[in-house]
Amino acid sequence: MCGIVGYTGHRQAYPVILKGLKRLEYRGYDSSGVALLKDGVLNVYKKKGKVAELEESMIGKNIDAQIGIGHTRWATHGEPSDRNAHPHSSKSGKIAMIHNGIIENYALIKQELVNKGYSFTSDTDTEVLLNFIEDIKNNNECSLEEAIRIALKRVTGAYCILVVEQDNPDTIIAARKGSPLVIGIGKGEHFLASDASPIIEYTKEVVYVNDYELAIVKPDELILKNIGNEKITPFITKLDMELAAIEKGGYDHFMLKEIFEQPSTIFDCLRGRLDSKESTIKMSGVDLNIEHIINANRIMIVACGTSWHAGLVAEYIIEELCRIPVEVEYASEFRYRNPIVNKGDLIIAISQSGETADTLVALEKAKEDGAFIFGVVNAVGSSIARISNAGAYTHAGPEIGVASTKAFTGQLAVLIMVALSIAKHKGTITDARFNELLVEMEQIPEKVDSILKNAEQLKVIAEKYKDASDFLFLGRGYNFPIALEGALKLKEISYIHAEGYPAAEMKHGPIALVDENLPVVFIATKDQYHEKIVSNMQEIKARKGKIISIITEGDKVSAELSNDCFAIPTADEIIAPLLTVIPLQLLSYYVGIAKGIDVDKPRNLAKSVTVE
Ligand code: F6R
Repeated sequence: MCGIVGYTGHRQAYPVILKGLKRLEYRGYDSSGVALLKDGVLNVYKKKGKVAELEESMIGKNIDAQIGIGHTRWATHGEPSDRNAHPHSSKSGKIAMIHNGIIENYALIKQELVNKGYSFTSDTDTEVLLNFIEDIKNNNECSLEEAIRIALKRVTGAYCILVVEQDNPDTIIAARKGSPLVIGIGKGEHFLASDASPIIEYTKEVVYVNDYELAIVKPDELILKNIGNEKITPFITKLDMELAAIEKGGYDHFMLKEIFEQPSTIFDCLRGRLDSKESTIKMSGVDLNIEHIINANRIMIVACGTSWHAGLVAEYIIEELCRIPVEVEYASEFRYRNPIVNKGDLIIAISQSGETADTLVALEKAKEDGAFIFGVVNAVGSSIARISNAGAYTHAGPEIGVASTKAFTGQLAVLIMVALSIAKHKGTITDARFNELLVEMEQIPEKVDSILKNAEQLKVIAEKYKDASDFLFLGRGYNFPIALEGALKLKEISYIHAEGYPAAEMKHGPIALVDENLPVVFIATKDQYHEKIVSNMQEIKARKGKIISIITEGDKVSAELSNDCFAIPTADEIIAPLLTVIPLQLLSYYVGIAKGIDVDKPRNLAKSVTVE
């Protein structure tokens, strides 16, 4: 949530910041702004709406500066407006700050400042923190750096802040707790950002700043300190990412590009790990910790949103193959209730961004209780990857479209491999079945490719149903979570109300919704539940609901029952979700497009949810 960019060096800062904000816009697009510092003059420009609106409003403004900070906002405190946009300026106007996160005790601090005569121009917690810093600086006659350190010791919540001041013409001070910060190291220049996408174009050498660390950044110098003012040696990492990975590459939208990348992202995820000829799965995160993993009393999967759906699929697969009890929890519930976590429990954390605040805090809590954390993460070097005891990256590459697609199939691929690996080590799977599933997994990229070749069929279906006000998605077994995921995708990018249900649950309530106007999407592939789901389709047909089905090639029975259907290649039911989800992603995409929605940036959403 919220993207932040900073630059100090020899280039013009504004173009670097603007391009960076566009790359970070997936993190929030309620408003944006920049602060540019030149010859002791601090100019702050900000605008409600997307970064393009800021860009337009900047025409004719003075943008000459070699240092600056910029922000794209996902609103928490205060409505999206020019007034609440970042950067904020301090009372004296001498300091400007941007912030990603939430200051939980801001009301208390605000009251203290109001008592001292401060007034505020915005509704944000950020303006409160900034004036608190300035107040400390004035009262203690200390440096800005010292004032920030003192203020942050009083603050509860999450933050990544970048601060510039008039009297410090080449320095950005940054600090983080709970919200990400990467610093790119160039020649005589430094770049600061919420993730590496604004930096990759200029340098591949980066430092990931940790919680409770402060960075004092000048063109030629990067000083890293902890909150206790002790210097830390920056740990420089080389980025393993190409610029092309964060560009649209000829597609109309990132979401479509990411859907079409799945044959190669799934292939990349399997590569070097799964080998059917050798009959092996090699995953160092599993292999090096195998005793821990197979001796776990139970597995708890903690995640949010789409990643939680991947967890539900994993629950079914792990219990089937490994005979270890699995529970799947929403991270946001897990962290606030008082869950029983015992030493020896295995927690699998699933996250595309690796920065989701609810998941991160849930893990911190579970780790304190002695659980072993296994992270299934897409963003390399992210906070969740770093807090995990072990893990496996999904290798899907940067996912920019707000609706998660390729990261989800990457999560499924990793989780299936983890389950197979545990089952093999535990002896709960026969060699023949193990090998059969490895062969099937290797065929998945090609099968996904064949589904994508028929994408146009889904465009036609989308056009037909785009004006429906509600959708129902039904599936059974391994495909029940895919029904949930199909409904979530449609809600997110078409704003159509959609519900996902286990098909058999329909008769316990949702069937009351069915009439001739309701499209019901069935995942009706050939598996152990097929006959039952055909009965469920009959029940919908009898009530005149419109049936859209995802079926296995050659399934005439389901095809005849459906108003519209889309056929996919055969696959073992355990790994079928890797295929069944693809047409649902495309269906949502085409419905969203048909409704004229900006599918990469649907309203109210942000990609990386770093607030609780
Ligand atoms: C939906 C979507 C969200 C995320 C959720 C968790 O398309 O993207 O539901 O899955 O916010 O995010 P991560 O996986 O980054 O922890």
